[in-house]
Amino acid sequence: MDVILTMKLIRRKFLPKIKQIVFVTLVICIAILSISAVNFYQEGDSGDYVKGAQLYYSWDHFFEVNEDLGKHPLWEGNSKSGIETWRCVTCHGWDYAGVDDFPGIVKSSNLTEAEILEWLNGNQNELHDFSNYFTVTAIEDITEFIKVGVTDYSEIFSEGELANENVDRTYGEELYKNECLSCHSVDGSKINFGTAANPLFVGDFGFDNPKMMLHIVRFGHLEINTGSESSLGWELRDSLSLVGYTELLPRGQRDGAALLDDFDYDDQGDTTDIVNLAIVLVIIVLITVSFVILRERGG
Ligand code: HEC
Ligand code: HEC
Repeated sequence: MDVILTMKLIRRKFLPKIKQIVFVTLVICIAILSISAVNFYQEGDSGDYVKGAQLYYSWDHFFEVNEDLGKHPLWEGNSKSGIETWRCVTCHGWDYAGVDDFPGIVKSSNLTEAEILEWLNGNQNELHDFSNYFTVTAIEDITEFIKVGVTDYSEIFSEGELANENVDRTYGEELYKNECLSCHSVDGSKINFGTAANPLFVGDFGFDNPKMMLHIVRFGHLEINTGSESSLGWELRDSLSLVGYTELLPRGQRDGAALLDDFDYDDQGDTTDIVNLAIVLVIIVLITVSFVILRERGG
């Protein structure tokens, strides 16, 4: 078929439909854009605690801190060094109860917002000063996280293990299939956080560090718009059941603890581009599908 014929055909068959297609595409684009804009940053008077929870373990990643900050002034000893010693989670823990001799922040939800600010800007202790790095919004977010996200897990874990009465693993499996399977695959092996020789799967995190897994499940991933307890409307019990199920997934390591210790968020690539690409692909697919449908209808 030559070009002119094709053009004629397109004009005759599709021209009336083109307006419709453009309209549908526009609506879809606007919908997708507004959803991602809302998810990207929810600013409000009291901060976004989910964002705050992500800053808690990776604020340097968000602010793209590339300079070498050296060892945090409150960090003694040489067990860790560099930017890791600046992350809240390193000192206050995945269960917020404090690592080694560092104090917990479980009871800090009783502080007022002004008092929490005093802790973050060095007024309480000049060595505990993050004001050079944090934006006002980030301080609000992390304050909100301390007020409503930080939870006392002492009844939920015993000796680091999830206490059984808190989890329904069959229900957890269902949640895994709905929320995680698309990226991590049915057995959790699709994303390998280790190397080919020393693989590290989602099951390793669940088994070796259920408290970290709980934080990720409740508050979502860095820069990837996966669900969180607030967007999914989950109670703690939902999250716990999902964590319980991830403990059962196949692991890459027989003893993953050592490797998991070395796992560093900085090594994870910036996924913004991938997410944008995915959105563009979705739009292209939708346009193609609407074309096909309209064409079928047209005879
Ligand atoms: C290098 C370890 C370290 C890091 C990193 C760290 N803290 Fe702390 N944090 C401490 C220590 C030690 C104290 C107690 C200091 C004191 O008593 O003067 C403390 C105290 C606090 C308190 C007050 C606890 C209370 O209720 O009395 C809060 C809240 C807090 N930190 C939040 C954070 C947040 C949020 C971050 C990340 C932005 C963070 N910390 C990073 C070590 C750390
Ligand atoms: C949209 C795809 C996607 C979905 C859905 C998803 N993940 Fe992930 N997950 C990733 C990617 C990509 C990474 C790589 C780490 C990164 O860059 O943050 C990751 C990393 C992780 C990590 C390692 C810690 C971290 O933050 O890097 C854990 C644990 C994890 N996912 C658990 C889960 C669980 C549990 C679910 C379901 C609640 C889930 N993921 C849903 C894509 C996804």
